[in-house]
Amino acid sequence: MKNIINIELRTQKVDFSKCKTDILAAGLFSDAGELDKLNKELNKKLDGAIDRLIKLGDFKGKEGTNAIIYSNNEIGAKRILLVGLGEKKKSTLDTARNAAANAAKTSVELKAKTMSLALHNAFGGRLDLSAMARALGEGIYFGSYRYDEFITENENGRLDSLKVSLIDPDSTKLKKLQKGLSIGIVIGKAQSYARTLANRPANVATPAVLAAAAKELARGSKRLSCTVFDEKQMAAKRMGGVLAVGSGSQNKPRFIILKYNPPGKAANKLPTVALVGKAITFDSGGISIKPSANMEEMKLDKTGGIAVLGTMKAIAELAPPVNVYGIVPSAENMPSGTSYRPGDIINTFSGKTVEVQNTDAEGRMILCDAISYAVKQKCDIIIDIATLTGACVVALGKYMAGLMGNDETLIKDLQKASDACGEKVWPMPSSEEYAKEMKSKIADLKNIGGRWGGACTAAAFLKQFAGDTKWAHLDIAGVWNFEKATEFTSEGASAFGVRLLTTYVVGLKNKKK
Ligand code: BES
Ligand code: ZN
Ligand code: ZN
Repeated sequence: MKNIINIELRTQKVDFSKCKTDILAAGLFSDAGELDKLNKELNKKLDGAIDRLIKLGDFKGKEGTNAIIYSNNEIGAKRILLVGLGEKKKSTLDTARNAAANAAKTSVELKAKTMSLALHNAFGGRLDLSAMARALGEGIYFGSYRYDEFITENENGRLDSLKVSLIDPDSTKLKKLQKGLSIGIVIGKAQSYARTLANRPANVATPAVLAAAAKELARGSKRLSCTVFDEKQMAAKRMGGVLAVGSGSQNKPRFIILKYNPPGKAANKLPTVALVGKAITFDSGGISIKPSANMEEMKLDKTGGIAVLGTMKAIAELAPPVNVYGIVPSAENMPSGTSYRPGDIINTFSGKTVEVQNTDAEGRMILCDAISYAVKQKCDIIIDIATLTGACVVALGKYMAGLMGNDETLIKDLQKASDACGEKVWPMPSSEEYAKEMKSKIADLKNIGGRWGGACTAAAFLKQFAGDTKWAHLDIAGVWNFEKATEFTSEGASAFGVRLLTTYVVGLKNKKK
C-alpha cells in the first residue's frame, strides 16, 4: 500500500524575505487597514504587488481564501501565498490552525516541495506563540492530508513529501515556536494516522486488523501495552454485547485494550482515565438492515474506536502523568444466519440483560461491555466516543459532537479542551426520562427508546453501565467525516476526537487523584 504524504516540519531561523522556498505563506486580516511589517516589506520588494492585489479587490483577507503572488529576485521564495485570516478581533487559535491547513492544502495542490510559514507574524502578540505553533503544526497535517492509498494511477497526483518550516529571524520567538510545534507534530501525525485507518474500507480494516494496528502501536512505544481478547476469550468473560453484534460476520469481533503507563513511579497516585471508542468496522444495520443509499459511509462507523487509537498514540509520545486505558470493542454488524436478531435477550458483561429491539442500535451493545470493563478496572473517569446515532446528526448537524455525561466537572473540562483544540462539542441531556423509555418487560432494559431524542436515549442507555463512575459520552455521528473537501482539508474521515481527547488528557496533568 502506498504511503500517505510524508510531512517534515521544523523551525528555521531566517529572514522572511531571504528564505529560499517554493512557497512563503504570510497571513492577512480582512480588517487590517494598512499592511503589517512583514507584508509591507514583501510588498516593497515585490514592487507594490500586494497593494495592487488588494486595491483590485481580488483578495480581501477572508478566512478560507488565499492569493498567490509570483515572486521576483528580491525575495528568496518562488511564490508568496497570502492567506486570509478574517477579522483580527475574532481571531483565535482556530484561525491559525485553519490558515496553516489552507496553506498546506494549497502547497500540496501546487506540488510544492517546500513551504515556509510566517503566519504567526500577522497575529503580533495577540496569541501565545507556543500555543499558536502547536495549532499551526496541527493545521499543516490537517490540510496536507488526503486519502489516496488505493489510487494506482496517479498522473495528476501529489508529491510524496512536503518540507515545511516555521520561520522567524528572532531566536527567542523561534524557541517558543519550537516548544508548541513539537506538540502540534505529535497530534497532527496522530490525527492523520487515525484518518487513514478510518478511511480504510471494511474489507481491509476488519476487527482483527484494528487489533493488529493497536498491537503495532504498543510495539512502537515503551509506555503502551496491548491486550486483545478474541471471541473465545470474550465468551469466557461473558462479553455478550460485543459477541452478539459480531455474531453475524465472518470477520470475528475483538476487544482491544491499550494501556498507557506514565513515566515515574507514582502511577498509583495518579488518576486513571478510560477512553472507550466504538469500532464497528461496517454497520449494515444487521437484520434490522439499513437502506442501501449511502450505506458505504458506514465503513466510518469505527471512527470512535480509531480516535481512541490515535489519541493513545499521541499520549504515548507526549507522556502526561495520567494512567490511561484505551478500550476499543470492535465488531462488524452484518445480517446472516448467525446474526443476533430483534427479540434476542443478551447477557452483557455487566450482568444486566438487554432485550434487542433493533440490531441497528449495535453501538450501545458493544459500548456497554467496554464501559463495564472500564468500571471493573476501577477507572476514575470514563469517556466514550462513538458514531452512535443519526439523531445526533439531526440535532446538531455536521459541525459539533453531542456531549452528555453524569458529572458537571468532567463535562466542563471537556468543553474547555474543546475550546482549546477547535473540535466543537455541544451539551445534551441523558436524564432519567430517557432511560425510562428503555424499560423492558422481559429483560433489564431494551436497546432502543421511543421515536424522539434518539441521541439522548442512546446516552441514557450507556449511562446505566457507568454506575457511579464519572462518565462522559461524545456522539460523533455528525462530525465523523467531511462529505466534500473544504478550504482546509480533503474529503473523508475527520478523526474527530484525537485532538479533543489528547487535549483533555494532557490538561489533566496538574490534577492529583
Ligand atoms: N452507526 C449508526 C449511527 C449513525 C447514523 C452514524 C448516521 C453516522 C451517521 C448507529 O449504529 C445506528 O444505526 N443508530 C440507529 C439507532 C436506532 C436504531 C435507535 C439510528 O441512528 O438510526
Ligand atoms: Zn447501527
Ligand atoms: Zn453503528
